[in-house]
Amino acid sequence: MKSVGHLDLSVRIGKLLLKNPVIVASGTFGYGQEFDPFIDLSQLGAVIPKGISLNPMQGNPPPRIFETNGGILNSIGLQNPGLQTFIKEKLPYFKKIKTNLIINFFGKTEQEYIELSKRLNDLPGISGLEMNISCPNVQQGGIIFGTDPRMTYRLVTKVRKSTHQPLIVKLSPNVTDIALMARSAEEGGADAVSLVNTFKALAINIHSKKPELGNIIGGLSGPAIKPIALRMVWETFQAVKIPVIGMGGILKAEDAIEFILAGARAIQIGTANLVNPRTGMEVIGGIHQYLLKNKIKSIKNLIGLFLK
Ligand SMILES: Cc1cc2nc3c(=O)[nH]c(=O)nc-3n(C[C@H](O)[C@H](O)[C@H](O)COP(=O)(O)O)c2cc1C
Repeated sequence: MKSVGHLDLSVRIGKLLLKNPVIVASGTFGYGQEFDPFIDLSQLGAVIPKGISLNPMQGNPPPRIFETNGGILNSIGLQNPGLQTFIKEKLPYFKKIKTNLIINFFGKTEQEYIELSKRLNDLPGISGLEMNISCPNVQQGGIIFGTDPRMTYRLVTKVRKSTHQPLIVKLSPNVTDIALMARSAEEGGADAVSLVNTFKALAINIHSKKPELGNIIGGLSGPAIKPIALRMVWETFQAVKIPVIGMGGILKAEDAIEFILAGARAIQIGTANLVNPRTGMEVIGGIHQYLLKNKIKSIKNLIGLFLK
């Protein structure tokens, strides 16, 4: 089903066709199954489960989530069961889901990224890959792959050669020039960029004088980051030709429409899923209403209309 009523909500991200532009973001939607009682996953444009690494990861010490004004700080530390267990225990659920499954993945070394993308290349039932480059490269002294444009270019080039899957590169917002990072991913061969991941942040308990998170530093997400994320999406849209997928603090259809006007071809919903698991459905409904009210036949006619 490509359209809702006579309106066309479908968008293309490289060779990936989404029935609507609403995707649920990695790390905020479990492995899909947890949300099954609340929402018909098949109605979403795509689902992105929690990020996967080659080997299982324990994550960071607790506490790992702390609520702030208008957002949350998290330091989950990319906990996940590893590729093999994911394939055996989590992937089978998605067989009955009639939408795109995009696999979010990451590594600690270039080799791990390449190895994972090769293995994911032939995995049946997946529609694309989202590569998270916001993690430290252990071989290069903990420099984050996604904050050095040359490292981003190099990594994307290598991963591009190891997979035929549509490749979305998820950018870190912890940089001065997001457009430069997006161009590096584009030049490396990415089919699309998604942004933003979380902002590095801190909360202190004034009574214990200790950090609120076990890992001290965490990543800020939720409505508090929306205006910054929106600015970054707009800057990126102007800098690259490949599709831009926008996220950061989207709670309702109006937020999603702002991102689409700023140039996002699709949007992701993260933290809002933790508050209202039906957010994705409500955003699809709200976008539909907006198109209807404004007599716009296709969502494609809305993308990047800001200042035009
Ligand atoms: C608890 C939590 C876990 C997350 N885990 C991942 C992850 O595994 N991989 C990833 O690329 N992003 C991860 N993210 C980032 C989100 O996918 C998203 O980029 C970010 O939260 C901004 O969107 P939002 O403000 O709508 O939440 C996580 C975010 C949260 C809150």
